[in-house]
Amino acid sequence: MRITIVGCGYVGTALARHWRQDPAVQLTVTTTREKRRPRLADLAERVEVLRAGDSAALRCALEDADAAVFCLAPRGDRLVSADDYGATYRDSFTALAALVAELPRLRQIVYTGSCSVYGDAGGGWVDETTPASPRDDHGRVLLESEELLGRCRAPGRHVCVLRLGAIHGPGRELGDRFRRLAGATRPGDGRQHSSWIHRDDVVGAIAAAVSGGWDGVVNLVDDEPLPVAELLERVLTAGGLEPVRWDPAAATGPPPADRRISNSRLHQLGYRLRHPRVQVPHLKRLDQQLFDAVAAQAREAPRQRRNHNLHREIDVVQRFLNVLQPGTYVRPHRHLREQAGTGFECFLVLQGAVGLLVFDDAGAVISRQRLEAAGPLRGIELGEGQVHTLVALTPDAVLFELKQGPYRPCADKDFLPQFPAEGTPEAEAQERRWRAMFQEEEPAPG
Ligand SMILES: NC(=O)c1ccc[n+]([C@@H]2O[C@H](COP(=O)([O-])OP(=O)(O)OC[C@H]3O[C@@H](n4cnc5c(N)ncnc54)[C@H](OP(=O)(O)O)[C@@H]3O)[C@@H](O)[C@H]2O)c1
Repeated sequence: MRITIVGCGYVGTALARHWRQDPAVQLTVTTTREKRRPRLADLAERVEVLRAGDSAALRCALEDADAAVFCLAPRGDRLVSADDYGATYRDSFTALAALVAELPRLRQIVYTGSCSVYGDAGGGWVDETTPASPRDDHGRVLLESEELLGRCRAPGRHVCVLRLGAIHGPGRELGDRFRRLAGATRPGDGRQHSSWIHRDDVVGAIAAAVSGGWDGVVNLVDDEPLPVAELLERVLTAGGLEPVRWDPAAATGPPPADRRISNSRLHQLGYRLRHPRVQVPHLKRLDQQLFDAVAAQAREAPRQRRNHNLHREIDVVQRFLNVLQPGTYVRPHRHLREQAGTGFECFLVLQGAVGLLVFDDAGAVISRQRLEAAGPLRGIELGEGQVHTLVALTPDAVLFELKQGPYRPCADKDFLPQFPAEGTPEAEAQERRWRAMFQEEEPAPG
C-alpha cells in the first residue's frame, strides 16, 4: 500500500515511524521546509517539500497514493491567526477538492481535525451527530475545511475526519505544559471540560482508519473528559507545585464552551485506546523555573530564605530545597535524634554558593567550607551532632537538603545559646561577620 502523509510534524513523524515497521507500506511524507528533508528521509521512501495549497505539488505527492493522511497544522501555537488557519487548512483542502478526480488510486483520505468545531453544551455530552457550532473564526475555518474534504468523497473513496482532543504524549507532557500556571490566579472557575488524546492513540486510530476504511466523522478523544480545574489540580499536585486559584469575578466575555466529547463511535469501530484516560506521573522536577520561583519568595521573606519541601512533615526522609539570600541568619544548631545514626544532614548546592561553618560546643569555628554549584566542593554530609550554620555567598543560592524525619518543629534543632536569636540586630551583625570570613578567601582583584 502506498500512503502519503501530508504534514509530518509531531503526529506525522510518529505515524511514519509506525508505518516504517510495516514492509507492506510505502511512504511519502511532506514538510514545508527543505531543512527537514534529511531527517525525514530516514522515515519514508520519498520526502516532498510543499505547501498543500500548491495544487501541482500536492498532485505530485498524491499521484501514486492509495491513502492520504493530512496531519498539517500551521506553525506556532496560540498566536496563529484565523487567516493562518485558512492558509493552512482551507487552501489545502480547496486544492485537494479540485484535483482529487485526477487521483483515481486514492481510496482513503484521513484528516486530523479538531473537537473545537463543537459549540457549548452546558457541560452535556456531544457526539458526531451533534451539529458543529464553532465559537470562533479558527473553529469556523476547521469546519469549512471538513466540508471541503467531504466533497472529496466518492464511490470507492472514503473520507474520514478524526476530530481530535488536545494531544499529549512524549515531548508534549501535561506537566510541562501546565507547570507555568503553578500558583497563578486564573479567571473563571475552571469547571469547563477538556478532552485529551494521547499521541500514540492518534497514531493508532489513523492506522486503524486507513486499514479499516473508516468514513465520516469520528471523535478521537479518550474516555474521560476532565474539568480544566481538576486536570490542573492533578498535574500541579503530582509535580509538588502550588495549585491554581480561580477567580470567577475576573472572568470577562462569554463563558468558555463546556461540553463532554463522546468517543462511543470510536469504540463502536473497534478501536481500543492505549491510553483511555490522562495519567499524570508523580514527578517533582528540580528545575530552573522552580529555583527562580522559590528564590523570588526568599527575597520577599523576612528571613531571606525559603524552603520548598518535597516531603510531608511526617515522612521519615526529609528532602527539600532551601533557597538562601545573603543576609539570612541561620542560628548555629545541631540535629539531635533519639536513634543513633539519624542526626546527619546532607547538603548539595544546586545554584550559587553557600558558606558552611562548623562549631565546637563552645562556639569556636572548627571548619569553614565553601560549597559551590560550579566549584570543586558541591556538597557535604554533616555527621550527627555537628553544630553548624550556613550563609548565602551569592544571591538565590539553592541548596538541596536531606535529613532524617519526621519533622518536629520544637525538637528539630538544638541551638547553641551563645549566639543571638534570629531577628535581632546582633544576629544581623553576626551573619555579616560570618560572610566576611568567606570573602577573605576570594582571590585579590587583578
Ligand atoms: N496539537 C493539538 O493539541 C491538536 C488538537 C487537535 C487537533 N490537532 C491536529 O492534529 C494534527 C497534527 O498536529 P501536530 O501537532 O502533529 O502538528 P505539527 O507538529 O505542528 O506539524 C504540522 C505539520 O504540518 C506541516 N504544514 C504546515 N503548514 C502546511 C501547509 N500549508 N501544507 C502542508 N503542510 C503544512 C508542517 O510542516 P513543517 O514540517 O515544515 O513544520 C508540519 O510538518 C493537525 O492537523 C492539528 O490540526 C492537534
